[in-house]
Amino acid sequence: MLERYGHGGDLRTAQELFGLPADQFHDFSANMNPYGPPACVAEVLRTYTDSIDRYPDPSVRELRRKLGIHHDLDPSCVLVGNGAAELIDLAVRVYRPEVTAVTGPSFVEYADAARKCGSPIHVLPLYPENDFRLTADTIRRALLDFRRRGIQPGQALWFLGSPNNPTGQLVEPAIIRELLLEGERVIVDEAFMDFVPDAANYSLLREAEVNERLTVIRSMTKFYAIPGIRLGYAAGSPQTIAELGRLQVPWSVNSLSQQIGSAVLDEKQYAENTLTWLKQERPWLESQLSALGLRVYPGEVNYILFSIPAEFNLTSKELQHEMGVRGVLIRDASGFDGLDETFCRIAVRFREEHLRLLDVMKNVLADPSRP
Ligand SMILES: Cc1ncc(COP(=O)(O)O)c(C=O)c1O
Repeated sequence: MLERYGHGGDLRTAQELFGLPADQFHDFSANMNPYGPPACVAEVLRTYTDSIDRYPDPSVRELRRKLGIHHDLDPSCVLVGNGAAELIDLAVRVYRPEVTAVTGPSFVEYADAARKCGSPIHVLPLYPENDFRLTADTIRRALLDFRRRGIQPGQALWFLGSPNNPTGQLVEPAIIRELLLEGERVIVDEAFMDFVPDAANYSLLREAEVNERLTVIRSMTKFYAIPGIRLGYAAGSPQTIAELGRLQVPWSVNSLSQQIGSAVLDEKQYAENTLTWLKQERPWLESQLSALGLRVYPGEVNYILFSIPAEFNLTSKELQHEMGVRGVLIRDASGFDGLDETFCRIAVRFREEHLRLLDVMKNVLADPSRP
């Protein structure tokens, strides 16, 4: 049976759908650092066999210590998980909210995790007219609605992506602080925050340490290009972290992940190179996509949301298919709540790959044989 081609980077399903070997695709559907894993990862793999006959440290002490130094957090305020995905799931299970507020669009796992716990979803609409920014007005409206329905402060869970996937928009910290002052519980997914040059102005990691109602989730899989390793972490008050930890499966973070996580945090040059590359390449790719006639939405992260204007008479699904059979994978973003069948998302990669992407896209957009 063909798997649902939903999340990006599913090369196995792409192979079945588009009929090319998995290693022949140019993959723009997953938002991964194109530099690939830092060099230290290969070194860890070479020596790893020496520790494979022992259980991993169940409390992930060394990696938590290093994350504490990296972000200036107390290690008791950090929980490491099997990818940010595990922490998203844990966070919802801890709170068992009466209702979960998510933006439309946003990463589908927030709503999926909430539904698994039986929590209804309240969608906070975002609009293309203001580049999908979350506004204080939208929040106020939702708060009024909750109070009218008898949902008290602390009974709802606000699950916000900053930067948001697939829009790339950051949430203004002032908006989140306002919610916290109202007594609301907030989880901020900062899975892509490492890609943001002025992350210090937007990240709430340090505030989570001292605010019982705030939890921040980070992923290490995107920035360090190690999605197969599964590594993420949450920051919160010591009590919140202890509660999340109690629900976690023992040894959920294996020893290889722990060693790789500790090693990549020392790769300062890799991190610097990544930010330099993104600063050059994202604006270039944005301008080229606009020149093809596509509507590009602004952002700073390593992926770009765009829509296909009506005159092309082409849906995002059709564009994805036409590009897929030509060996280029893009993300059809029409499955995200609040986006219609004209939206696509692509990862920012290296110039040579962009030239290939643009060449194929130009051909598909200009193809006279399309209905
Ligand atoms: C916004 C966002 N958060 C979290 C995740 C999950 O990351 P991880 O690979 O660390 O589980 C993803 C993966 O695509 C994502 O896009």
